[in-house]
Amino acid sequence: MSARKLLSTDIERYFALYPVRPSAYRRFRTVMETEAIWAIAVYRWGHYLHYDASRFTRLVFKFPYHYISKLVGMMVGIHLFAETKIGPGFYIGHYGGIWISPLATLGANCNIGPNVVIGVAGKGREKGPTLGDRVGVGPGAVITGEVNVGSGAVVAANSLVSGNVPENAVVIGVPARVLTYTGSANLIGIPTER
Ligand SMILES: CC(C)(COP(=O)(O)OP(=O)(O)OC[C@H]1O[C@@H](n2cnc3c(N)ncnc32)[C@H](O)[C@@H]1OP(=O)(O)O)[C@@H](O)C(=O)NCCC(=O)NCCS
Repeated sequence: MSARKLLSTDIERYFALYPVRPSAYRRFRTVMETEAIWAIAVYRWGHYLHYDASRFTRLVFKFPYHYISKLVGMMVGIHLFAETKIGPGFYIGHYGGIWISPLATLGANCNIGPNVVIGVAGKGREKGPTLGDRVGVGPGAVITGEVNVGSGAVVAANSLVSGNVPENAVVIGVPARVLTYTGSANLIGIPTER
């Protein structure tokens, strides 16, 4: 999927609860006024430059990207890296204190709250966490190390995930333990065809 298409699936997530297709004006205002969308847009651009762009394009835009990415990161407190692999329909609710490692992988339609850290364990290991599709990560959660978080799982607010999480599990606490297997369907609004 092209970077432009990926970004449009991300933006679409911000209208998931709209019963009708939002007007161009509504969409424009949402993009201009939603800090998380700025960070996601810069990330999609950087990811394209890193993996898909021609050498020439990469050379021309490397420095502008680097400084725009730094600036947006400082302004809104959402730190995303070009190397990170994030599937379509990425949604960040609110902003501030968000750090997603270059070594992390996120599937499609994941939700991230404010103050979420998804990173390596700091034990000299090389791999970061892998999240499946439709994973909801509540505010203040930390997911660390070479762990797998199954599709449809929910990580509750302020939890610490340092082990694998089964599909559709709702995990809570420090360290996180499974509370139920009710999954993320009620938390994650995925746009339908309008
Ligand atoms: C994961 C979550 C959805 C669980 O909801 P739920 O399945 O309805 O669970 P309940 O509210 O019934 O709580 C079940 C138990 O877990 C406890 N609990 C719920 N969330 C908890 C949390 N984040 N940390 C510790 N304990 C928690 C409750 O106190 C309750 O304990 P009890 O049985 O001793 O009374 C919810 O806790 C959560 O974290 N939501 C995130 C909300 C969010 O992201 N909001 C966006 C704001 S930007």
